[in-house]
Amino acid sequence: MLKTTKITDPELYSIVANELERQKYNIEMIASESSAPTEILELMGSVFLNKTEEGLPGKRYQAGSQHADEVENLCIERGKKAFGCEYINVQSYSGATANYTVFNAILEPGDKILAMRLDHGGHLTHGSPANFVSKIYNYKHYGVDLETEIINYDDVEEKAIEFQPKLIIAGASAYPRLIDYKRMREIADKVGAYLMVDMAHISGLVGAGVIPSPVPYADFCTSSCSKTICGPRGGFVMCKEKYAKALNRATFPGTLGSIQLNGIAAKANMFKRVMEPEFIATMERVLDNAKFLAKELENRGFRVVSGGTDNHTVLVDLRPKKITGKQFDQALESIGITVNKNTIPNDPESPFVTSGIRIGLTAVSERGFAHNEISEVADIMKMVAENIDNEDILQECKKQGRSLISKFPLYPEEYFED
Ligand SMILES: Cc1ncc(COP(=O)(O)O)c(C=O)c1O
Repeated sequence: MLKTTKITDPELYSIVANELERQKYNIEMIASESSAPTEILELMGSVFLNKTEEGLPGKRYQAGSQHADEVENLCIERGKKAFGCEYINVQSYSGATANYTVFNAILEPGDKILAMRLDHGGHLTHGSPANFVSKIYNYKHYGVDLETEIINYDDVEEKAIEFQPKLIIAGASAYPRLIDYKRMREIADKVGAYLMVDMAHISGLVGAGVIPSPVPYADFCTSSCSKTICGPRGGFVMCKEKYAKALNRATFPGTLGSIQLNGIAAKANMFKRVMEPEFIATMERVLDNAKFLAKELENRGFRVVSGGTDNHTVLVDLRPKKITGKQFDQALESIGITVNKNTIPNDPESPFVTSGIRIGLTAVSERGFAHNEISEVADIMKMVAENIDNEDILQECKKQGRSLISKFPLYPEEYFED
């Protein structure tokens, strides 16, 4: 691993080596994480990193673009096939910039956007005061029904009629249920708004066909590449053909600089994998494991927000255990399980403390976890939650977790041998 860096920069090499060790022996359950396959690691470090390109294939500003065009065209062709979309731009650096390019393509400063509240599961780029988009556009937010903890579509419709947004955003960071895209489309049509679906979290599940696709309903679909889709850091935007020109102009020169061809090569491989039976089986396992974990946690006295999950995420209310998200997240990290603290709908705690945690099943399912392992994780979580200050029990849990994860290698052992 890192043959030259090991010799020329041992200080940095040892940090990377330590991170590899951490990933190998950690039970990774952060919902926005996945483990990229070795092809993706290789392509991210490929010589395409050296090539500067601006513009689209066939219309570059730089010379020497033959292979750059080939790789981006292949990526586009595979992306279109994987999602059945009319048009795709694969240049975005991340899910966040993918959203910015759409805003830039269709909106003017001051235009109105209706999106999901951050504290009910929405994303920072959907109009949080902490994100610069809130200074440019005029936002209103919808949320979940506090009884069912499911999106209140009547409320979305009422707000849309009253607010008359130019854009409605569906999609979230911490929403464990399916979104009714047909209903969102109807609401958008009723008020003459564009519909953008931010499928950053669920694009792997959508691409594998294990949950419904928003592509037929949305004007634009945006995604990150590093969550359920298990690709590189990066993003992409799909749209109806009629918006292609506006999207391309808004991407470059409108929002981004020169493209990251190494990332585009890796995305091309990601889209190929999405269509393969092995990936589809992994995504089926992610869904099954998430549903199973939700039940297992409920059986152990946790409250699962909305009573379950339809995707890779389980949102857990910790109040029955009388601990906060911050306490549980830190205690789990100390024993080798990573999750993240998360607000739950109507959370009495601040976003820095929270009453909940968000758990994602992608990374452990990639490594091969099935029901037996998920039950063991639920046992460990219960033990930690109920003994949060008991160092001896936490040490036992750490040993148990390490022994469990050690049976499921992150990468083939020989891959990193020098
Ligand atoms: C709904 C949603 N959109 C966009 C993003 C941003 O994606 P990235 O981290 O790739 O910029 C996230 C990341 O968590 C997300 O959850």
